[in-house]
Parts: sequence; C-alpha cells; structure tokens
Amino acid sequence: MRRGLLLLGAALIVSGAYAKDLRSAVESPDATPILEKDRLPPPKEYTMPKECITDDPLAIARGKYIFHNLNGKKAKTPPPKGLPRFIVVNGKKVPKQYGNCVACHNIEGAVGPGNIGPDLHNYKKHFIDSGARSYQFVYQKIADARIDNPKTHMTINLTTGLFTPREICEITSYVVSQKKEK
Ligand code: HEC
Repeated sequence: MRRGLLLLGAALIVSGAYAKDLRSAVESPDATPILEKDRLPPPKEYTMPKECITDDPLAIARGKYIFHNLNGKKAKTPPPKGLPRFIVVNGKKVPKQYGNCVACHNIEGAVGPGNIGPDLHNYKKHFIDSGARSYQFVYQKIADARIDNPKTHMTINLTTGLFTPREICEITSYVVSQKKEK
C-alpha cells in the first residue's frame, strides 16, 4: 500500500503536476516606486548659518523639546511657543515629527537608556570648551551625519527635510548649551 502511494507521488511529479507555473496567479506588485521614495537623498555638506548658535532660552527650549520627544501626538507636555504639535501636509493635519534623539543618546534629563550614540552629558565642557568639537561640526552632524561618518546610524535631519535650518540651529544650541539638570 505504502509503496503504491510512493509510486503515485513519483508519477505525479514526473507528469509535472507539481511543476505548474503559478507566477500569473501570485500578485507581485512592482515595489520600485516605494523603494525609490524611501531612498535617502545623497549626503550634503552645510555651512552653519550666521547667528545659528543662540543662548535665547525659548530657542533652546524648542531644541530641547525636539531632542526629547518623538512627535506632536505622543508628546505629553505642550511644546514651547513657536513649535507646533501638528502641521498640514497635502491638506492633511499630521503630527509634527520631532527628533527623538533620546532613543540613542543620553543627555541631561533623559529618562531612557539612550546608549546607541555617544553620551551627550556635559557636552559643552567635554566637547566644545575642550576644543574637541566646533559648532560647525555639531551643526553638520545633526543636519547630515553622513559627512562625518558615511556609515552612521543617526537620523538624517536636514537633507531629508525633517527639520528646517532654524530647527537644526535650535537643536544644536540645546546640545552645546550649559545645562543645570543631571
Ligand atoms: C538611531 C540612533 C541615533 C539617533 C536617533 C540620533 N543619533 Fe546622534 N549619534 C548616533 C551615533 C551612533 C553617533 C556616533 C557617530 C556616528 O555614528 O555618526 C551619533 C553622534 C552624534 C553627535 C556627535 C557627538 C560627538 O561630538 O562625537 C551629536 C551631537 C548627535 N549625535 C546629536 C544627535 C541629535 C541632536 C539627534 C536627534 C535629532 C540624534 N543625535 C539622533 C546615533 C543616533
């Protein structure tokens, strides 16, 4: 009996019953346009705008808010003046994306571990006052980190249009500012 089934199976394979071409029955949409849309624009070098780095508390507060939050919908506290929670894209109201830099970086007041990127605690003292980093370096890093490291894991923030140059300045100003909290 067993032998009979085996023979039947072999006969079916030989006769091509399992070799049917099913390609026309399987839906396979062309993913090229989706992949093209998600492809990052090429790395871009920027010159930090004049008067970019500011000690204006409101600008630094906006930079801080962008650093510590994911988007306007998820944010628990209201954003500082001048930073919207929602923006209109193609006539649709959508939450404004923020930086969520704390997903990867530790910094004063951060609650998560943020240990994928370097710890940015005391950045002013360790990196700026020590002369290790310039404001231009930090601006470029936040605008498009690929210039410094082509294999970076950091988000690309200016070249992708995620943020405006003014917002990049505010995030940079926050990173390099003297902070009071631990
Ligand atoms: C997905 C993880 C990730 C996210 C999100 C991220 N970073 Fe980074 N960041 C890194 C890594 C990794 C490095 C180390 C250098 C590199 O790989 O580019 C880095 C480096 C840096 C540096 C340079 C530190 C130095 O002087 O060496 C700064 C400043 C910085 N990030 C700021 C930010 C800011 C601001 C944001 C949010 C807008 C952010 N990062 C979001 C991963 C991340």
